[in-house]
Parts: sequence; C-alpha cells; structure tokens
Amino acid sequence: MKSAMEVKELQKVFGKNIAIKHVDFNVKQGEIFGLLGPSGSGKTTMVKILTGELSKTAGDVNVLGMDSSKFKTSDFKSKVGILSDNSTLYKRLSVYDNLKLFCKLYKAPLHHIDDILHDVHLYEERFKTASDLSKGMAQRVLLAKALIHKPDLVFLDEPTSALDPGTMIHIHRALQKLNEVGTTIFLTTHNMEEATELCDRVAFLHKGELQELDSPAALRYKYSDHTFHVETVAGERMVIKNEPETADQVRQLIANRQVKAMHTDNPTLGQIFLKVTGKELV
Ligand SMILES: Nc1ncnc2c1ncn2[C@@H]1O[C@H](COP(=O)(O)OP(=O)(O)OP(=O)(O)O)[C@@H](O)[C@H]1O
Ligand SMILES: [Mg+2]
Repeated sequence: MKSAMEVKELQKVFGKNIAIKHVDFNVKQGEIFGLLGPSGSGKTTMVKILTGELSKTAGDVNVLGMDSSKFKTSDFKSKVGILSDNSTLYKRLSVYDNLKLFCKLYKAPLHHIDDILHDVHLYEERFKTASDLSKGMAQRVLLAKALIHKPDLVFLDEPTSALDPGTMIHIHRALQKLNEVGTTIFLTTHNMEEATELCDRVAFLHKGELQELDSPAALRYKYSDHTFHVETVAGERMVIKNEPETADQVRQLIANRQVKAMHTDNPTLGQIFLKVTGKELV
C-alpha cells in the first residue's frame, strides 16, 4: 500500500528543549493512524511540523508525496484538512456562513456544506450564530470546516478532548464515514478508548520518542499474559494458560458443560502505555 506520509529521523528542538527526538514512521493511504501520548509528549508539535505550521530541526517529512518545502502551497492545502487547537470560527457569522466562507476559500462546491452538516449532525443548527454554539457543536463545525474541501488526508489534533460521550460518538461516526471513502486520518489523542475504537494503527509518543507502533489488537496481544479467564457454572473462577498443554483442561470444561463465561484478558492501550513508559496517558 502507498504511503500517505513518511517521517524519517525527525527532530524538533525548542531552545534547549528537545520536543521530538529522531522519530521514524509511515502512515499508509486510507488508514486511521493515532498518535498517543500524555500532555507535553510532542503530539501538537508533530502535527504542526506535518502541516507546515512549524519548521523541523532535522530529518525528513513527506506528506502526500510533497516535502516540507511544499507545505505552504495551494496544492498541499487543497489536499489536506486540519483541525488543531488554533482552529477558529467567525463568531458573528452563522454556522452555514462560516462554512460558505471556507468553501469559497478552497473553491469547493457549496453543496458540500449540507452534506457535511448532515455528517456532523448539525444540519438543524445551520443558521445558529457561531458565538451561540455549545463547545461540542463548535468543535463539530470546526471538523466540518476541516473537511469542507474533501481532502485526501486529515490531521486532527485531539478532536474530541473534553467533549461529552454523545458528541464524541457523532465525531467518531463522521470520521469512520470519511475513512470509508478512502480519506487518510492522522489524529492525536490521549483517550485510549477512542484510539482502540477508531485507529487501524497507533504509535506511542513519550517525551518526543516513539515507543511502540502497531494495531491496537496486536499491541493488546503482545502485552497480554496469554491466559483465559473462565467462570464455571458452579461459580468457580479459573485462570488458564493459553498454551497447548492446557488444551485438554479447556476441552474438558467445555465437554462437561461447565463453562459459564470464558475470555482472554488483554490489557487496554492505557495499561500498555503505562507498562512501556511508566507514565499514565492522561
Ligand atoms: N512554540 C513552542 N516553543 C517552545 N516550546 C514549545 C513550543 N511548542 C511546544 N513546546 C514544547 O514542546 C513539548 C511538546 O509540546 P506539545 O504541545 O507538542 O505537546 P502535546 O503532546 O501536544 O501536549 P498536550 O497533550 O498538552 O496538547 C513541550 O515540552 C512544550 O513545552
Ligand atoms: Mg497538544
């Protein structure tokens, strides 16, 4: 599969502070890639370098076949959508007029506005003034703004932080729908449930260094203790090794109709992050 993004030996230094230390990774076209890390780990710095808002100190970055010297061009901007912590709306304009303005800026057709408003569940609110929106609504308009020109690749810096679960679900559905038509999504989060549910692959960023990179399921398997947890009909709880030598024991339990519940107990991404870095994700 072709790469949407290639990052090689990337480094970013602010004065004496090394925010990104020799980071390497690729993002495939069409994948949802999550960059996970606690506050200060370098997530926003990474997004800003990959979108041309900050310059790199060393290394190479290539996004949609373009190197960082092209990140200010209209070609780059027409192919990339960005939702960052400094994305804003025109407070005195309606939701619709805000999006109309961005449609014109990106030379996108106006019918995109209604499509995207339905996707983020804001069609009914389209004539509301931006200053009267709740935080969750405003965040969804910002997402709509990032998507209005149907970009090939979207960068989302903590798209759902501090939002209620209902709003979060609307945003997740909109992102999944977007991904189904082939859009590549690069998001940062410190919400491990969000990453587990949405991302094809996640990378752990800790103090500017990548610690792990794989699918959530592969990481959860890698760090599992390879056991089954069994609850029998008689109420007994057993922990059985997921190994060939215990196959007879498991078979016996099933054959005797003793199994009420049986599951593996793989760790969550948050537990793995703590194990790998010694630090909580939040
Ligand atoms: N413009 C800047 N000037 C100086 N230092 C900066 C600048 N931007 C970020 N840093 C530093 O770089 C490091 C990484 O910050 P960054 O904002 O990338 O973290 P983050 O992972 O996005 O955190 P959060 O989850 O709180 O948003 C921090 O030590 C921060 O102080
Ligand atoms: Mg940040």
